[in-house]
Amino acid sequence: MIVRKAVIPAAGMGTRFLPATKSMPKEMLPIVDKPVLQFVIEEAVASGIEDILIVTGRGKQAIENHFDYNPELELFLHSAGKQHLADQVRGIGDRVQIHYIRQKEQLGLGDAIRLARAHMGSEPFAVLLGDTIIDPPEGQSPGLRQLLDAFDVTQASVVAVHRVPPEWVSRYGIVDGVPEPGRDDLLRLKKLVEKPAVNVAPSNLAIAGRYIFTNAIFDCIDATQTGVGGEIQLTDAMNLLAQQAPVYALAWQARRFDIGNRLEYAKCFIEMALRRPDTGEALRVFLKGLLGDAAG
Ligand code: UTP
Repeated sequence: MIVRKAVIPAAGMGTRFLPATKSMPKEMLPIVDKPVLQFVIEEAVASGIEDILIVTGRGKQAIENHFDYNPELELFLHSAGKQHLADQVRGIGDRVQIHYIRQKEQLGLGDAIRLARAHMGSEPFAVLLGDTIIDPPEGQSPGLRQLLDAFDVTQASVVAVHRVPPEWVSRYGIVDGVPEPGRDDLLRLKKLVEKPAVNVAPSNLAIAGRYIFTNAIFDCIDATQTGVGGEIQLTDAMNLLAQQAPVYALAWQARRFDIGNRLEYAKCFIEMALRRPDTGEALRVFLKGLLGDAAG
């Protein structure tokens, strides 16, 4: 089985990021000058994905506009002698086939993924959360590529997980699993526990926002009852799937920035800005001064 397609759920209300998300999708928040969703799509394309279905909803038109052509803007940039910028804005949507589907009611991540059923047919597919940037250590493959490499071996659904400090365990879906013989980074999943208290958590391996599913996940989503907050929880559907078929967890070293969380967004913005040649040095000097003043 080969994975060619991905779905990116981006229809959530983003309530943790109000008031900014009242009129702006959180997936379009900029990290310096690039929207979060563009990082996500670039990761998918760099991993070999050819076809992407984005789940959008009311108030999310900025997403479609961003990945579409904008002839007026391109003409303006061209006549202003800024051809490199014109090429940049056109290039974004040209690298991959992008489709859209609307989620009419925000009934949860499971429901958003269910909308991809007809598009995926019988193929296995990837899921990338539209509000999550994956940052692998220098020299490693893009996050989704690492997961696809694991899928090449398992030929079964596989989910990325990362180690989190104890105080974060109660914020995430946590994995209970058994290590695969000869692999210290791959576990066979027994179950997922949603936001456990730290003293009962089966591990400190948290779901990282990237998944590969066989199409058996769709029947499991259909069989999942509405859970917390009236939503169809993807973790409930994954637990059903794990009872019927092998599901694996890949424990990678990549960091996860959940930009729906305000502090994580601020950290991601600063870290990415520090890495850029055009902003890094000046920002480093500024931050040193700022922190020096605060310490003093
Ligand atoms: P989150 O749970 O982080 O998004 O979902 P949210 O519901 O927008 O967050 P808050 O709690 O209100 O701040 C992770 C991803 O799944 C998408 C979101 O857009 C986000 O990219 N999502 C979530 C959907 O597409 N549909 C939903 O019904 C829920």
